[in-house]
Amino acid sequence: MTPDIDIPRPAAPAIEAQPLSPALGARVRGVDASQPLSPATLAQLLDLWHAHGVLCLPGQSLDELQQVRFGEYFGELATTQGEYQISKSHPAIMYITNEKENGEYVGALPDGEMYFHSDMCYVEKPSKATMLYAMQIPSQGGNTLFANMYKAYEALPAATRASLAGLKAVNSYEPGTSAPMAATRMRSARAEGVRSYSHPVVCTHPVTGRKALYVNRLMTEYIEGMPREESDALLESLFDFQERPEFIYEHRWTPGDLLIWDNRCMLHARTDFDASELRKLRRITVKGERIR
Ligand code: SIN
Repeated sequence: MTPDIDIPRPAAPAIEAQPLSPALGARVRGVDASQPLSPATLAQLLDLWHAHGVLCLPGQSLDELQQVRFGEYFGELATTQGEYQISKSHPAIMYITNEKENGEYVGALPDGEMYFHSDMCYVEKPSKATMLYAMQIPSQGGNTLFANMYKAYEALPAATRASLAGLKAVNSYEPGTSAPMAATRMRSARAEGVRSYSHPVVCTHPVTGRKALYVNRLMTEYIEGMPREESDALLESLFDFQERPEFIYEHRWTPGDLLIWDNRCMLHARTDFDASELRKLRRITVKGERIR
């Protein structure tokens, strides 16, 4: 009879998570995003992501395909559109950068401030998640801000929450105006090339079941079935409310930071920076479902 042998197993490295801010987010250590994840690690990571809305994994060293593999743990990846498809290795890769070749920008959203928004909210099935990996960061500015739409919704007066139930708003995107367009919202839903879609003003997250405000200053145009002046006034008050400092975390990037956020409950924005300094982040988005 073979005696039982007690083989010592190396302990799985523990994931450590600390809040990024009182408003939202967690900083996660103990995960090497360049390597395949065990089912247990992935389950912990997804739980943290659903609980905090934004995860920051600092100190990562990732090539394009390693970032693709990590992104796929969050769902099916979206492919990038024509002019932004500069990666030879995978169609999901996009660069957010002001880098130029022959005088032309090679990536998307090159410079300038951006108002709060939720990625692809102007299509029927907006992006579930967005992931940015920091490669080159300017010495000042170019910070990404996040706003917690669960907290904003929950902090609204009960009467306002009740009045928003069942409302839908049209969200629009005008191609070519997305980067240095800080001055105005995109307000020309009838212009050529504009893509629009109407979503509930308050959505219910499909995993957490929590309600979140789903409007934003950059892309939400008007509330359906409401006189325009009334709609403008209501939206302005919601934009001002959802951007209160208590709902916001401002991320100052360090190269090697990998951030992944949940577009169904977190808005994001960007601060301005000196356009003569290089800013380069590698982006991947994950396909989502209809907003409900
Ligand atoms: C984005 O809106 O996806 C870009 C955010 C950033 O450049 O910080």
